[in-house]
Amino acid sequence: MSVKPLVAGNWKMNPEAGNFVELASQILEEISKIEGVTKVVCPPSVALREVSNALEGSHVLVGAQDGHPEASGAITGEVAMGMLSSVCTYVIVGHSERRAMFGETDEYVARKAVSAIASGLSPILCIGESLDVRDAGDALSYVHDQLVASLDGVDNPETLVIGYEPVWAIGTGVSARPDVAGEMAESIRSTLTGLYGGEAALNVPILYGGSVSPENIGPYIDRPHINGALVGGASLKPSDFGRIVSLVASIRG
Ligand code: PGA
Repeated sequence: MSVKPLVAGNWKMNPEAGNFVELASQILEEISKIEGVTKVVCPPSVALREVSNALEGSHVLVGAQDGHPEASGAITGEVAMGMLSSVCTYVIVGHSERRAMFGETDEYVARKAVSAIASGLSPILCIGESLDVRDAGDALSYVHDQLVASLDGVDNPETLVIGYEPVWAIGTGVSARPDVAGEMAESIRSTLTGLYGGEAALNVPILYGGSVSPENIGPYIDRPHINGALVGGASLKPSDFGRIVSLVASIRG
C-alpha cells in the first residue's frame, strides 16, 4: 500500500497552563528527525498561529480541532475553515466529543469536510461507534452509514484522512483489539472504494484512535488498512508521542 503513514496528536483543550509553544518545542525535539511519517499536532485554535510559527521549517504540520462550514458571518465564537487555512494544514471534523457535546450530525460534519477541502485544508474526518452499537453487533454497518453520510458532497478524497475512533475507546484506557480495528479499517476502505474507486481509496490514510500508547500502537500499524494513529492523551507527553511516531515509522515508513 502506497499511502504515507500519518500520526496526529489531538491536544483537545490542553495544556491547561497554556504553554503551547513549550509543548510544541518538546514534541519537535522528539520527532523532528523521524522520517517516512506525516506528523501533525492539533492545538487549541487560540494557539494555532504561535504553534505554526514555532514549528516553521520543521516537517511537523499543524491542524485545527474544528472549523465552521460557513465562510464568514454573524456566528459568534466560530472560526471559518478559510480563516484556519492561513495558519494550519489539517482540521479535525466530526470528532465524537463534538458529535456528543455539541450535537453535530453527519450532515453538518459533511458540510465541514466539504468546506475544509474547498479551503485547501485536509480534513481528518472522525467516525466510530458507541459501545451499545458494538454490543448489538451493528458496528460495521453503523460506521459504514456514518461515513457515507459524513462524506456527502465530498467529491474528491485527495486530501481526506479518516480517523476511526470507537467512542468507547476514547480517553478510557480501553483500546479496541487490533483485529477489531483492523476489520473496521478494511470495511472503511471498502466503503471508500465504493464511493471513489479503488485507487483513490487506497490513498486515503485511515487512522486508528482511542487510547493509543507507545505500548499498544504496534499491532494496529501491522494491520494492512491502518495507516497511522490519532492520539489524544499520549500526544501531551512528548516522549510517548515521540515513541508512537517512531514505532509507526519503523513499521510502516
Ligand atoms: P485518546 O483520544 O488517545 O486520549 O483516547 C483520542 C482522540 O480523542 O482523538
